[in-house]
Amino acid sequence: MKLLLTGGSGFIGSNFVRVVLRDHPEYEILNVDALTYSGNPENLADVEDHPNYEFVHGNILDMELMSELMQRVDAVVHMAAESHVDRSIIDARPFVETNVLGTQTLLDALRKSDPDNTKTFIHVSTDEVFGDLPLDDKDLKFHEDTPFAPSSPYSSSKAGSDLVAMAYHHTFGMDVRITNCSNNFGAYQFPEKVIPLFVTNLIEGKKVPLYGDGQNVRDWLHVEDHNEAVMTVLEKGKAGERYCIGGNNERNNLELTHSILEIMGKGEEMIERVTDRLGHDRRYAIDATKLKTQLGWEPTRSAWPQALEATVKWYVDNESWWRNVKSGAYREYYAKQYGG
Ligand SMILES: NC(=O)c1ccc[n+]([C@@H]2O[C@H](COP(=O)([O-])OP(=O)(O)OC[C@H]3O[C@@H](n4cnc5c(N)ncnc54)[C@H](O)[C@@H]3O)[C@@H](O)[C@H]2O)c1
Repeated sequence: MKLLLTGGSGFIGSNFVRVVLRDHPEYEILNVDALTYSGNPENLADVEDHPNYEFVHGNILDMELMSELMQRVDAVVHMAAESHVDRSIIDARPFVETNVLGTQTLLDALRKSDPDNTKTFIHVSTDEVFGDLPLDDKDLKFHEDTPFAPSSPYSSSKAGSDLVAMAYHHTFGMDVRITNCSNNFGAYQFPEKVIPLFVTNLIEGKKVPLYGDGQNVRDWLHVEDHNEAVMTVLEKGKAGERYCIGGNNERNNLELTHSILEIMGKGEEMIERVTDRLGHDRRYAIDATKLKTQLGWEPTRSAWPQALEATVKWYVDNESWWRNVKSGAYREYYAKQYGG
């Protein structure tokens, strides 16, 4: 079974490659990635010579290349995206281009190479397409039938790509499956995202910038739990279905910050309150009952404090990795391998 993975040099994708090569030896992975600022081939340095792994440097907007790659694989796991909300507030255009048009390009390329619809296309999306939830009703959670109400340019571009993907199932009968997961944490996350940013700032002796009142809630999901859920949907899911993936692990940003400070042996004085993100969603929470009852998946690696401690330790132990990213030196690895 050969998988085309898009965006496999980013945070979730590189962990996906490692999980599949480790736990699913019957799969081969062809990773296509444009190596934008968040794509780092060094994330996969330890597996780049693995016989079941191949890398192609390319953009999902390149129809000709995507059509060629589709001929070589049995299924697609689509993770490539512009992924950072704050960047989408500064400039939404790359988000619409990659997330919406890129997804449409992949679907058209697959449709042409697979007229009998034998190949599965998993579209990896986010819980942010559902908008946000009130803080005062803990029983309310997102589920597969929650209407879309995205609030940021990022989440609206992901909602657009979800709708395009599902339209290709309804219109052409393609085997499209969508996953909507909550916030991931784990190794190799680009240090613009809150957990690696805070841990690495503290190691560097810098303060941690906490948005607004710190009451915004996220449901934290370990990246390996997420990737196992994606494999479960690939192996046991059904065409035209959406699956919500969560970690049963809701924390507000202030609690998260205190936990990181405690693990790192730092005090409250390292918190710097900063102006809130524009349009900051208050709370995300996932009801993953469908995935549990229909496909038998449950998170096993997301529980805190252990999973958070292990993640913090990874950044402490892998200082050269994140220093290369923060300083921009990781682009040299890229230039050495791929030129430019
Ligand atoms: N990180 C999270 O917490 C989270 C939560 C829910 C859903 N998601 C979704 O999971 C997927 C992966 O997220 P991530 O956190 O690993 O993101 P990331 O930014 O770390 O990685 C994205 C990867 O996509 C590649 N890419 C970007 N544009 C491309 C293009 N035009 N062509 C080919 N490759 C391109 C980048 O080079 C990078 O390697 C995204 O679709 C994101 O929307 C992420």
